[in-house]
Amino acid sequence: MTVPSEDSIAHETAPASPHDTGITRRHVVGLGLIGGLTIAGLSSCAMIPQASAPVPDGWMPQANPMPFPTDYIWGAATSAFQVEGSTSVDGRGPSIWDTFAAEPGRIRGGATGDPGADHYNLWKDDLELMSQLGLGAYRFSIAWPRIQPTGSGAVNQRGIDFYRRLVDGLVERGIRPGITLYHWDLPQALQDRGGWPNRDTAYRFADYASIMFDALGDVDADWFTINEPKTTAYVGHRWGSHAPGIADNDAAAAAVHHQLLGHGLAVQRFRASGAIGRIGIALNLTPLYPVGDTSVEATARVDASENRLFLDPVLLGSYPKDAIGAQGGMLGANVKDFRALVLDGDLAITSTPCDLLGVQYYGAAGVDFSGNQVGMFPTSNANWQQVHPEGLYDLLTRLRDDYPAIPLVITENGMPDESSSVTVDDPYRVRFLRDHFIQASRAISDGVPLIGHYVWSLLDNFEWAEGYEQRWGIVAVDFETQKRTFKRSATYYKKVIATNAVPTT
Ligand code: FCB
Repeated sequence: MTVPSEDSIAHETAPASPHDTGITRRHVVGLGLIGGLTIAGLSSCAMIPQASAPVPDGWMPQANPMPFPTDYIWGAATSAFQVEGSTSVDGRGPSIWDTFAAEPGRIRGGATGDPGADHYNLWKDDLELMSQLGLGAYRFSIAWPRIQPTGSGAVNQRGIDFYRRLVDGLVERGIRPGITLYHWDLPQALQDRGGWPNRDTAYRFADYASIMFDALGDVDADWFTINEPKTTAYVGHRWGSHAPGIADNDAAAAAVHHQLLGHGLAVQRFRASGAIGRIGIALNLTPLYPVGDTSVEATARVDASENRLFLDPVLLGSYPKDAIGAQGGMLGANVKDFRALVLDGDLAITSTPCDLLGVQYYGAAGVDFSGNQVGMFPTSNANWQQVHPEGLYDLLTRLRDDYPAIPLVITENGMPDESSSVTVDDPYRVRFLRDHFIQASRAISDGVPLIGHYVWSLLDNFEWAEGYEQRWGIVAVDFETQKRTFKRSATYYKKVIATNAVPTT
């Protein structure tokens, strides 16, 4: 691995302990140097320089309530490691998140994937909650280590059986399954062989995907190959604050390519398997706004490393030229080494046509002239999240304008509670959802082929490095008793679903 230039190192100084700084997860991307201070010197996001927000475009809702198409998919999402618990039962093998969580100091409060929201045992109750909400779709992920405990070879039938029961339960209730194949819980045995920086992992992923298409391909479902390859590459391999805890730009770049290769191979296997249903990838994308005229070029580079590095190979069959390199805002990996990873024919595989594109939208960011992401909008309790509902509209219309037409589905969108204690009173989340639904409806009226919206998350759960201290559910979970209670936002969402419209006031 080549050592990045000093410039890129300066931009990529990750905190020694993310919990000490108050800044964790992907949010550290680009925030390395602020006014000469390294990020380790920051105590809170209040110190992120604030730039003025883009001038509002003057748009006003045309109708109240704003309607959605009759077949719009209203969903909620979770992922296996965050909700299931039961990490060592029924033959499940260890994943990189089990290993990572066992390392002292990695997860807030020393939390692990147990108990999660005990969904492995309470899945029937959770189906009941979904019916009560009137959900049209439920997006969950399959734990690869339950299916192939060592990441390759023999299949663990008990793992398949769990997801079969879940999918059958959804179908019985008229809820469309949204099935994510990979939501970050790589079998540890594959990490021991190099993980995503190793090309072989892409082929192992395709084999695992085939097993699942054979097992569940008779069900009309929406499949998502990989959840947020950017987070795995950047937070897991560039910053090291997620599993597998690696901080190496070249490893991050390799993880980008091999995940996208795995995605394309899985889409090919899906077609070959004859599975019914649709398939795509779930990308987290961030609209970026220059803080002034002098930061326009840097913003383009951050857009390349945050968005186009993932969109272009999947939708256009090419990598952008300005995503990787030594300039501020780029992923500071060695360009030659990265090119050498991309073998002839790879880009034809990564761009194997999909049926839909999953868009995960949490917020936007400003960019300064050096390519640092800076605060431009209010942050939530997850201080990497700059809340900007209009950014959803900007993002969706940009996808409409810059890429070949493909149905879009918002596969995640949500915010955490204001405190870490269990609560059911979340007016801020009601406002958040309302404001984002409004922008989604607006985008649809402006010709964006948006077919659905999954709220993150159905349940309070294990929020990665934040452990159980950040609650993102519309349903509250008391982790001691595993009691579930609708929050105010769940009741609000139920009404939106029932009326298929969002009141603008
Ligand atoms: C997304 C992840 C999801 C959850 C939310 C808050 O990036 O895909 O698992 O952690 O953020």
